[in-house]
Amino acid sequence: MSRSDNAWDPGLYDSTHRYVFDYGESLVDLLAPRPGERILDVGCGTGHLTHKIVEAGADVVGIDSSPEMIAQARQNYPKLTFKLSGIADFRTEQLFDAVFSNAVLHWVQPPGPAAAAIRAALKPGGRFVAEFGGHGNIASIIAAAGRNPWYFPSIGEYAGVLEQNGLAVNSAVVFPRPTRVEGEQGLREWLTMFYKPPLGEEVVARMERALRPGLYRDGAWFIDYKRLRITATAE
Ligand code: BEZ
Repeated sequence: MSRSDNAWDPGLYDSTHRYVFDYGESLVDLLAPRPGERILDVGCGTGHLTHKIVEAGADVVGIDSSPEMIAQARQNYPKLTFKLSGIADFRTEQLFDAVFSNAVLHWVQPPGPAAAAIRAALKPGGRFVAEFGGHGNIASIIAAAGRNPWYFPSIGEYAGVLEQNGLAVNSAVVFPRPTRVEGEQGLREWLTMFYKPPLGEEVVARMERALRPGLYRDGAWFIDYKRLRITATAE
């Protein structure tokens, strides 16, 4: 697999896939950032939710393992702090009041080192607020592709990972969120953005045919997302 196979396209992300951070706004509400709090945004992407948290008066560091995403985040919000780092490798001496993560942790395998790094970044009593793909996420797409490169745990499985790493779970829910992507090309654009390494043209065309009866209606594709939303406190 070449480097470019895994590269992100921040322009495509900010235009066609902005539902990722639009839906993430309600997760910022759940985080309830307070003025002066120090908050880590894990997998900040192009920085829109980092900015939203800063607007609440918090002091935020956004990290992302993609150089392309970090470059775009810095361009979008030059006054904010962004660092190139995956969560499993992240170390800090200045601890955080909260760690936030939207639509990212399904990319992080194995989950244990990431949970340990989240705990290590938090003050005792600090909070962890995250949403990502839960068990059964995009099941029809994975079945059609025949390949699942992601980590979509059940509540029980992920709660265990957090608890083993010093994070006490306060709430957890898995819920469906069929997500509309506009136009005939919508599924194809979604697959191009997110399937890494990319699927070939023949596979994509076969998937469009197989998935159309279940996922396409009224001029749009509906991605069969199932979200795992979880909150925890550092012990
Ligand atoms: C998700 O947000 O659930 C997701 C996004 C891209 C690929 C896989 C899952």
